[in-house]
Amino acid sequence: MNKKILIIVGIVSMLVGGMMVKHHFSNHDNHEITENIKVESPVIQWTPSTKSALVKEMYSINKNYQELVSNLAQGDWAKVIENSHNIHSAFILKQELSEEDMADLHRILPERFIEMDSKFHDHALKLAIAAKEKDGELALIYSGKMMDGCVSCHQVFAKDRFEGFSSQEEATHEH
Ligand code: HEC
Repeated sequence: MNKKILIIVGIVSMLVGGMMVKHHFSNHDNHEITENIKVESPVIQWTPSTKSALVKEMYSINKNYQELVSNLAQGDWAKVIENSHNIHSAFILKQELSEEDMADLHRILPERFIEMDSKFHDHALKLAIAAKEKDGELALIYSGKMMDGCVSCHQVFAKDRFEGFSSQEEATHEH
């Protein structure tokens, strides 16, 4: 009887111990990941012409996004579709760039920037589809995700350009 209890206690403490070790290590991993992100300084080394391509993209999406918000509020689906298509096609890697600029972009853009940018443009496309269906609720969700895209990317990669983001720690979550 006593032996049985001892065995059970032994098994239970092994399980608990295992869980604690696992917990400790996963915390440790998370901690290291967060530290790495903070240490990494994502300053993109734009060349003059890739910078001007980016600014061109930003002007276009800025103008179209502002119009989009207004058109969405008015249920003007045709215009919402046009705005989202314009945003979708302003994608920096899809612009008519010289081979040299294209090679530069692939060299200087961090993976994370490309991911954020593609996700952003993907949301523009999904918004266009929602607008085609005249689905206001879904269109609203994607317009919110797009705004999230502007802010998250600027917080990480445009701290120098926007004073308002300069002293901020980067956003801890992305959608
Ligand atoms: C994937 C990254 C990314 C996304 C998404 C993004 N931006 Fe930007 N944006 C940048 C970067 C980087 C700069 C800073 C360029 C620089 O250093 O001058 C910038 C600059 C700008 C500028 C200033 C351009 C100038 O005159 O220098 C505007 C305006 C702008 N963004 C608007 C927007 C809006 C509005 C959205 C969303 C609807 C958006 N951006 C989404 C990366 C992004």
